[in-house]
Amino acid sequence: MSSLLATAVAHPNIAFIKYWGNRSEDLRLPVNGSISMNMDGLITRTTVHFDAGYEKDRLAINEIQVDGKGLDRVVKILEIVRAAAGISLKASVSSTNNFPTGAGIASSAAAFAALAQASVTALGLDWSEAKVSRLARLGSGSASRSVPGGFVEWYLGDSDEACYAETIAPKEHWSLVDCVAIVSSSHKKTGSTEGHLLASTSPLQIARAVDTPRRISLCRQAIFEKDMSKLASILQLDSDMMHSVMMTSTPALFYWQPETMAVMKKVQQWRDEGLQAGYTIDAGPNVHVICEAKKADEVAKLLKKIPGVQKILVSPVGDGVRIEG
Ligand code: PMV
Repeated sequence: MSSLLATAVAHPNIAFIKYWGNRSEDLRLPVNGSISMNMDGLITRTTVHFDAGYEKDRLAINEIQVDGKGLDRVVKILEIVRAAAGISLKASVSSTNNFPTGAGIASSAAAFAALAQASVTALGLDWSEAKVSRLARLGSGSASRSVPGGFVEWYLGDSDEACYAETIAPKEHWSLVDCVAIVSSSHKKTGSTEGHLLASTSPLQIARAVDTPRRISLCRQAIFEKDMSKLASILQLDSDMMHSVMMTSTPALFYWQPETMAVMKKVQQWRDEGLQAGYTIDAGPNVHVICEAKKADEVAKLLKKIPGVQKILVSPVGDGVRIEG
């Protein structure tokens, strides 16, 4: 066959227990396990087209051609599926996002989940969800968590095969919402790929990693019991711990803006006053405020009033990656 094509859609995810640092850079095997929810409404749509007419692999993101490191990461995935299918056709990859790229909303997670699934399907490979999750992981660790739907755990695993993500509760289990307070939509200076390399330079990273099974277990419990107060405590602690590692690495990574802090302090104040919501922040300045859907309007209204908050994205729990058409 000389032309093979598939389109997949995927959502980014927000981690409740964060992934920060790899024990193997090449295989993107993480230092610790993590838990997340997929973010409905925010969509990456990726079409992969293998065709005998292409002389080299190419990549367009939001209709702009990408070369260099961005393209290299995509080619790494394409090489794996080509080898598995026993073909050598080059591909054109075209990806569009309906949300800002590079600003603390994990665009790479949705991008590599969609790329992995579209590539596997285009070449007619009959791969399990776990195997697609592992493939997505090689592009961006957190992408492994955008492959399954709902609430997802990415297992630390003791090997490449055991290091994949799966659903621990379907999206219907608990109507949670992520209200993302956007304080900046500019592209971050240090992306997470470089950030992971610095994690081990922080003296706090070992303590964070050693304590992760405890936090994972508390987070799982909070999800299973639908206990918002417990979830808010553990997700704030986990985010603060990851940012402590970032701030104490060499060179130090500091992703917060003054507005980031302002939102964090407000959320804590609301919790003290009885409104159950918790903040968590990725490698960027925007603040993800997690709450139950019934509180989302109230939380979004309060967030809008904070000076410096430019807009709010409201995202319920989303599905996993899927093929379109
Ligand atoms: O998957 P990466 O390499 O983009 O790393 C994601 C890192 C964080 O977003 C900060 C945490 C996480 O677990 O999503």
